[in-house]
Amino acid sequence: MILDGKAVAVQIVEKLKAELAKKNVTPQLAVILIGDDPASRVYVRNKQKKAEYIGIKTQLFEYPVDVAEKVVLDKIYQLNNDKNVTAILVQMPIPEHISREKIIMAIDPRKDVDCFTPENVGKLSIGLKPYFYPATPQGILMLLDYYKIPIEGKHAVVIGRSNIVGKPMSQMLLKRNATVTICHSHTENLEEIIKTADIIISAVGKKIVRCKMVSKKSVIVDVGIYKDSNGNLTGDVDFAEVAPLVDFISPVPGGVGPMTIASLMINVVNSYDDNNPVS
Ligand code: GUN
Repeated sequence: MILDGKAVAVQIVEKLKAELAKKNVTPQLAVILIGDDPASRVYVRNKQKKAEYIGIKTQLFEYPVDVAEKVVLDKIYQLNNDKNVTAILVQMPIPEHISREKIIMAIDPRKDVDCFTPENVGKLSIGLKPYFYPATPQGILMLLDYYKIPIEGKHAVVIGRSNIVGKPMSQMLLKRNATVTICHSHTENLEEIIKTADIIISAVGKKIVRCKMVSKKSVIVDVGIYKDSNGNLTGDVDFAEVAPLVDFISPVPGGVGPMTIASLMINVVNSYDDNNPVS
């Protein structure tokens, strides 16, 4: 069975749109984009389009690749202090000469809809509620829940240890009482470990999950998205080979991607309440 992220995301987005219309409030998302990476540009455009559709106001602050660090930091401070701005997103990656640490530390945790700041990441890691959950792991859990896939007590294997996906995904699965194994590029016996998984979440960016690693009971979530040698979008899982063998699998595209955007939109809609406790 296909985990149809595209269809589930549409439902979430429509619900958010109706919710905002009913409440008659307008959250405001400020996006900072540095440089001209084409993929980042596409991601930002997609997020903005979805936000505007829902009724969220968006502002894009674009900077050339050689912008001074201070200019970006000052913009973040200004956005932190702007009562109309409820959410701030700095699109990653940023150029080498700008300190990722300084940028992340500058964002007000109450507006940190990516869950990048130490306050939010720290809360997540000790099992407390951050202001916002990271979009991709939150979207994946919503997808699993939609299909009523049990998590408690199951062995979840997370492949990839990034700050955006692998690490927070593992923590959120732990919070849901899964038994979690994190694998990465140095893991020995990767194949043997994957074979023991009930849930496989792959966030690597190359073809890694093959048919010999899965079993009938497997649930496979493919977070990878990149272009193959023919220019087609593909994921970490050999879909044609693996899909007939498993219980559930998410496609690429149309799986985790739309869920990530929908999940970010939930955060932005909630950001209004966080900044307006009396509303
Ligand atoms: N670059 C790749 N993924 C993301 C994300 O989720 N948020 C931001 N801000 N940048 C990214």
